[in-house]
Amino acid sequence: MNRKNIIYLILIFGTLIFINACYYDKADLLYPTSAIATCDTSGVISYSQRVVPILQSQCYGCHSATGGSGNINMSNYANDKVIGLNGKLYGSISHSKGYFAMPQGGNMMSSCDQAVINKWITSGCLNN
Ligand code: HEC
Repeated sequence: MNRKNIIYLILIFGTLIFINACYYDKADLLYPTSAIATCDTSGVISYSQRVVPILQSQCYGCHSATGGSGNINMSNYANDKVIGLNGKLYGSISHSKGYFAMPQGGNMMSSCDQAVINKWITSGCLNN
């Protein structure tokens, strides 16, 4: 094989690898529904069935007793409604400026969990 052919081969393989990399980088843009389809925020969000399990797994560890962290006991509806309506619940889970980022020292809540809680709040923090 002469030099020219080798250079052509390198160019062809290089282009193939480049195209492939672009395809995988953009897979989430090409198929956006796969991520959205698993997050159901339609209809009325149930406090007991949707919100409590999220808070239980990610917040109760530090906030489930009187005098808990930040003096917030999140294991009852009345208290959750207070922080829901005063903006602290969504402010903390969305890591908004001016709020304590929660869960403290842990991974940010998934965008789906945030959306579920946000919808519960904007629907008036129902006890359902
Ligand atoms: C590892 C322990 C820990 C976990 C888990 C945790 N928090 Fe906190 N949280 C704290 C501490 C400690 C404070 C007190 C503020 C501070 O010292 O940073 C606090 C304070 C707060 C406050 C009050 C902030 C204020 O303005 O008074 C809110 C609201 C809050 N947390 C919400 C949450 C939510 C929602 C979750 C679950 C997504 C959560 N926290 C998970 C430790 C935790």
